[in-house]
Amino acid sequence: MADYKIVLLKGDGIGPEIVNQAVKVLDKASEKFNFTVEYDEALLGGCAIDATGVPLPDETVAKCKAADSVLLGAVGGPKWDNQPGNNRPEAGLLGIRGALGLFANLRPAVIFEPLKKASPIKDEIIGGSLDIMIVRELTGGIYFGKRGRTEVDGQPAAWDTEQYSVPEVERIARVAFDLAMKRNKKLTSVDKANVLESSRLWRETVTRISKEYPEVELNYMYVDNCAMQLVRNPGQFDVIVTSNIFGDILSDEASMISGSIGMLASASLSESKSGLYEPIHGSAPDIAGLGIANPLATILSVAMMLRYSLDQPKAADAIEAAVTKVLENNRTPDIYEEGTNKVTCEQMGDLVCEAL
Ligand code: NAI
Ligand code: MG
Repeated sequence: MADYKIVLLKGDGIGPEIVNQAVKVLDKASEKFNFTVEYDEALLGGCAIDATGVPLPDETVAKCKAADSVLLGAVGGPKWDNQPGNNRPEAGLLGIRGALGLFANLRPAVIFEPLKKASPIKDEIIGGSLDIMIVRELTGGIYFGKRGRTEVDGQPAAWDTEQYSVPEVERIARVAFDLAMKRNKKLTSVDKANVLESSRLWRETVTRISKEYPEVELNYMYVDNCAMQLVRNPGQFDVIVTSNIFGDILSDEASMISGSIGMLASASLSESKSGLYEPIHGSAPDIAGLGIANPLATILSVAMMLRYSLDQPKAADAIEAAVTKVLENNRTPDIYEEGTNKVTCEQMGDLVCEAL
């Protein structure tokens, strides 16, 4: 029996191309670090609609639940844009997150040294390097709260509710503190406690959990200030923990600091060891099938999988180092710079394997 069972959800558009490269790299890492991986594939998104009529077949949920981790490419595309909302590819994405209880979303915003010029932030503001980890609560808050339509003074009106319970905040806080312990022992909790009652409970709870982590330096920041500080002085952050909606916005902002959507990985974690790993970008229908997609976000998602779900931190470090090395001279078109070799999706996968 293999050490790890991984389910591949290749999905739509560039999904299959980029996942295939990431699998090559995982295989190479398994040889080098002496572990074995067994793969299974399942359908999610548009390809699942075509084959079964629904974006998230029961079989996919069952396979993912039984796996040590899931690697997802991306879903969606114009072909399915006229499906009704609850039968769109993206509904499959929300469905699998819910089914696996993925309450913690980890999004690194990293600048790879060879790509420093691609960042819209000036060198002198970035300073030496940039490596921020945003921990976003993923299954609570206003995106899941009660909502509705009403009437105010005879005019149509609508409302949404932001609610967090103490256990919900405790578990996301623990994920963030545990991460901070593995990194630079610095955590920023982001809220709007000057206005929102849910944010005041969030802050009280994070403060209480911090007593379990005396080594971690904790500070608080209002979300509007955080949005500003991310572009004014991003180097001040290490780990950021925040609610679903604030994390949605801040992680997109932070991802742009690093310059390219094709470079950014993510992890979604549950109470179990298993997680779902995926690039932050979509299915890029405009370049699907051309063989020019950047596979590095998916390859770096495999590195996160090795670190957070499979307890192979050395293999994770080695993949990240290999990516940095390959980037010195080789680029897919989305990150191309004069003086480097322009390579295809597949060549990029091969180069990372060689560097490993
Ligand atoms: P997108 O991220 O797919 O593409 C935005 C732009 O970035 C495009 O020009 C694309 O070519 C480029 N790009 C993205 N990933 C790239 C890569 N690895 N290498 C090189 N270039 C890359 O976002 P868009 O166009 O808004 O959405 C396309 C489809 O993807 C839609 O159906 C959308 O719903 C879906 N989507 C799926 C996500 C997921 O599966 N997690 C996330 C975001 C969007
Ligand atoms: Mg978003």
